[in-house]
Amino acid sequence: MNKDIKKILIDEKELQAKIAELGERITEDYKDKNLLIVCVLKGAVIFVSDLIRKIDLPLDIDFMAISSYGSNTESSGVVRILKDLNVSIEGRHVLIVEDIIDSGLTLAYLIENLKTRRPESLEICTLLDKPDRRTIDLDIKYRGFQVPDEFVIGYGLDYAEKYRNLPYIAVLKEEVYQ
Ligand code: IMP
Ligand code: MG
Repeated sequence: MNKDIKKILIDEKELQAKIAELGERITEDYKDKNLLIVCVLKGAVIFVSDLIRKIDLPLDIDFMAISSYGSNTESSGVVRILKDLNVSIEGRHVLIVEDIIDSGLTLAYLIENLKTRRPESLEICTLLDKPDRRTIDLDIKYRGFQVPDEFVIGYGLDYAEKYRNLPYIAVLKEEVYQ
């Protein structure tokens, strides 16, 4: 285990089992539809790469990078598009893939933005949901795990850009933040 880790919340086996389950549901719900996966960089990149291999359908994937965080662990509410999609989503069945929904501000902004581009449908798939801190109501169609109000890292999620490569979801030791 990495020396900065206090505890592992979700191990590799649990992650893969849940992702297989989500992939099956998505496969069922989107058969006969022309699915476009929108992956929110960078946090969701590990999740999406495992997830799409569990979706047994032809699909397209595109990436968007948005920022709502400064240097600390609180959502600032200020959202910027750092990288936009390469393709038009007009008339497409769009599934947004996120790593974690915390306050919900980032995703609420993204949804409002994407809606103006007139997709046929727009749904959310998030690996983690931290409902205690939600300040905006969001309709989440696919949810991997609910996590407590703790800052989590690993499997794509970072603290100051580190720990994304850990194969599990974990909580950092307090001293790492100091
Ligand atoms: P929100 O706008 O508060 O919902 O924040 C969403 C974004 O903040 C996520 O896409 C993550 O990039 C980041 N984030 C929120 N909570 C955590 C966490 O516990 N660990 C790592 N990143 C987080
Ligand atoms: Mg993110």
